[in-house]
Order: sequence, then structure tokens, then C-alpha cells
Amino acid sequence: MSKALEFDKNEEMPRLEGERLVLREMREPDAESVFKIFGDPDVILYWSSPAQKLVSEARELILDARKQFESRKLIEWGVALRDTDEVIGTCTLLNIDLRHRRAEIGYALAREHWRKGYATEALDLALAFAFGPMDLHRLEADVHPENIGSFRLLEKQGFKREGYLRERWHHLGRIEDGVFLGLLRPEWLELKQSA
Ligand SMILES: CC(C)(COP(=O)(O)OP(=O)(O)OC[C@H]1O[C@@H](n2cnc3c(N)ncnc32)[C@H](O)[C@@H]1OP(=O)(O)O)[C@@H](O)C(=O)NCCC(=O)NCCS
Repeated sequence: MSKALEFDKNEEMPRLEGERLVLREMREPDAESVFKIFGDPDVILYWSSPAQKLVSEARELILDARKQFESRKLIEWGVALRDTDEVIGTCTLLNIDLRHRRAEIGYALAREHWRKGYATEALDLALAFAFGPMDLHRLEADVHPENIGSFRLLEKQGFKREGYLRERWHHLGRIEDGVFLGLLRPEWLELKQSA
């Protein structure tokens, strides 16, 4: 087991602090903020599940994140503004496989917070945690072919396009393709050192 994930079941998810953002565990009072994110059709356009219709679905998401964290399958952080502690997004390491030292990354921000560099800052923190204390070797992402913002975000971090997966998702009544990207720890280190 990775040292970073070897802690007591009652312990909080690792808290990661950046310049403007904090990645932290989500709690029940964050449900309204989470609903603002995942209840918005613009946010879930290229997502894997439909828009939430009720705040109770946001509550379930928060509880489920806790359960999956306890079994070490997933870390789903709330992306909170440092100044107000308001959750404006989520950033997730999913399909965590410590034996093979890999995980997938996912993220979403509330529409009003796009294009301010917040996702870049959240990924900086999550990647440093994944390749640092968690000691992962590889991160993966699966992106809708038209999700330009997501490609730009990942490619800035050094992710490379590795494959085109046909008709992988059934979403909003459509069958969608996926583009698979990967980033290796040595590539990420090299990019950080040259920055
Ligand atoms: C994808 C997403 C997280 C990007 O968040 P963001 O905070 O706007 O991203 P940033 O501001 O850090 O921008 C990262 C880079 O992508 C670019 N970018 C972001 N959105 C873009 C868009 N719609 N079109 C073109 N470029 C875009 C930015 O200009 C920036 O590049 P730059 O540094 O060269 O200027 C956000 O659009 C989102 O939440 N989308 C809905 C959920 C989603 O699709 N998640 C991804 C599933 S794979």
C-alpha cells in the first residue's frame, strides 16, 4: 500500500493547499455547492452521468466519495476557494491501482469559474500528490473528442494522447467516443524541472 494511503479509516482525505485553492474532503454542508456544479447541463455535457436533478443526489455523491475513499478506490476532493472555503469543483483520482501504480484523473468546475486557471491549479496539486506521496507512476484520462478545454488542460500538464476508443460511452441519449491520454511520472518531473 502506498504510504500516503496508509492511514486510519476515520482520517480525512489528504488536504492539499495551493495559492488560491484548497483540495479537501467534501462534507454534507457542501451539497448545495456540489449541486450547483453537477446540476448544470453545461458542466455535464462531456461527463459520464446525467445532470443531477435534486440536491439529495449531491449528498449521495459526497457520501459515496467518503465510502470509496475508505476502501481506497478513489479520492474525490472538493476544489474549494481558499478565501471562502466554497466548493467550486471536484478533482478525482479514480480507478486507483496501487499494485500497478496508476490511477485515472477527472475534474469539473462550476461554469462561472471556468477560464480562470483554477483547473490548472487543482491539477498541479493533485498531480504533485499522485506522483509524490502516493508514488504513482502513471496517470490516465478519458476525454470526449470535442472537449477542447480538457485537452488543453491535460496537454499543458504533459499528458499525451494514446488512443481513440470508439463508442465507449452512452450519455444523454448518444453513443460517444473517448480519447485516452496518459502521463508518466518521469515526463511530469521533467516538465516541472524545466518550468
Ligand atoms: C475542463 C475544465 C475543468 C477546465 O477548467 P478551467 O478552470 O476553465 O481550466 P483553466 O482555466 O485552468 O484552463 C486550462 C487551459 O485550457 C484552456 N481552456 C479552458 N477551457 C477552454 C475552452 N473551452 N476552449 C479552449 N481552451 C480552453 C485555457 O485557456 C488554458 O490554457 P492556457 O493556459 O494556454 O490559456 C472546465 O471547462 C470544466 O469544468 N468543464 C466541464 C467538466 C468537464 O468537461 N470535465 C472534464 C471531463 S474529461
